[in-house]
Amino acid sequence: MASIPPTMKALVLPNAGASLELRTVPTPNAVSGSVVVKVLATLLSDKHEHMFAGHFFTFPPDYTPGGQAIGRVAAIGPDTTSLAPGQLVLIHSFVRARDDPNGVQILWGAFDGATPQTKKFFKDNYAAGTFAEYVRAPLEVVEPLNERKLLDPASKGGLGYTVEALLQLANQIVPFGGFRGISLQPGERVIVAPATGQFSGAAVQVAIAMGAQVIAVGRNLDKLKQVQALYPAGRVQVVAVTGDEKADTEAMKQWGPVDAYMDVSPGSASGPQNHVRACFGALGQYGRVSLMGVIQDDIALPYMTAVWNNLTIRGQYMYEREDVKLAIKMAEAGVLKLGTEDGIEVVGKFQLEDVGKAFVAASQNAGIGKIVALTP
Ligand SMILES: NC(=O)c1ccc[n+]([C@@H]2O[C@H](COP(=O)([O-])OP(=O)(O)OC[C@H]3O[C@@H](n4cnc5c(N)ncnc54)[C@H](OP(=O)(O)O)[C@@H]3O)[C@@H](O)[C@H]2O)c1
Repeated sequence: MASIPPTMKALVLPNAGASLELRTVPTPNAVSGSVVVKVLATLLSDKHEHMFAGHFFTFPPDYTPGGQAIGRVAAIGPDTTSLAPGQLVLIHSFVRARDDPNGVQILWGAFDGATPQTKKFFKDNYAAGTFAEYVRAPLEVVEPLNERKLLDPASKGGLGYTVEALLQLANQIVPFGGFRGISLQPGERVIVAPATGQFSGAAVQVAIAMGAQVIAVGRNLDKLKQVQALYPAGRVQVVAVTGDEKADTEAMKQWGPVDAYMDVSPGSASGPQNHVRACFGALGQYGRVSLMGVIQDDIALPYMTAVWNNLTIRGQYMYEREDVKLAIKMAEAGVLKLGTEDGIEVVGKFQLEDVGKAFVAASQNAGIGKIVALTP
């Protein structure tokens, strides 16, 4: 690999509500517990502008956003044992404190959490994210990728993906954690609601890869049918909710007992007309629920239905490291797909200088499987 330059370009957000600035900053070095990665592609979503305005997410001043990237290891730390310079890697964003993994958790490059400890942890260690040419990444969120398997063309035995398409893995590992949390099994029938967003769309892809049958629930029948059309007949059924709870529940039950339900609702889905109660009502005996959305209003759940049906309800924040490793194995095996056959499409690649154009592309391509990448 080429030697690492002493300085690099990085996008810096001075404060919430300010514009990103392209700055020249010192290139990080690898210290114990970390590697330095040359960033090849980092995910930019339609949510980023909203986040940078300081809505819901908080972060320290003068930080470099981004925590989901594909890159190459450029330098290893003194305690790195398996990664080597040149290795293609996935970087993901869920960082847990080593001495308090269940107490101090941050979304690197996005959200410094809700407690003084998480905010200090982020500011002191993780203020520099992946919207940069190089990044110092903690070993726990750097996973090796089988480059030949994922990137080589089919003629050479590979899957023929582009580097940017691999970024969809960072979206897929989130619902994968949720489905593993409720032990989704092959052949089971699972409701995914909604089913057409960045993460909820990825949930459909993951449920299919896990061998489940999906009932994709949402408001927009046309968008749901586009998802359905990607898969063999019968694998994805669609229900456009009407707001009539009983009718919506019956619509979801028409194909037989429902085993599981994942909710990935955005905050805008709060309110009395939401679909959550209808989805609960559709679950059969021993049904399992994974709540992954950010509905901020409390919802009156059908208490006796939960009792009679022996329901298990699990909240799920992000995933376990083992989930990430298994998702990568599934992708390398060609089971979890990262290509156009699952609706995954790279709709824009932009250099750091053109981040404004990247925001425009992301807002015009919000939703399932559309990748906008910064390629520093
Ligand atoms: N628990 C975790 O660890 C975790 C991790 C990542 C993300 N999340 C959360 O998951 C949520 C969803 O993420 P996403 O990226 O998939 O969101 P998204 O891209 O904004 O998509 C949300 C989908 O929700 C539907 N929707 C929008 N407004 C709605 C409303 N008022 N009522 C009902 N449905 C509505 C839309 O589908 P239709 O138009 O088809 O109805 C849209 O496609 C986010 O809020 C995010 O914070 C949680």
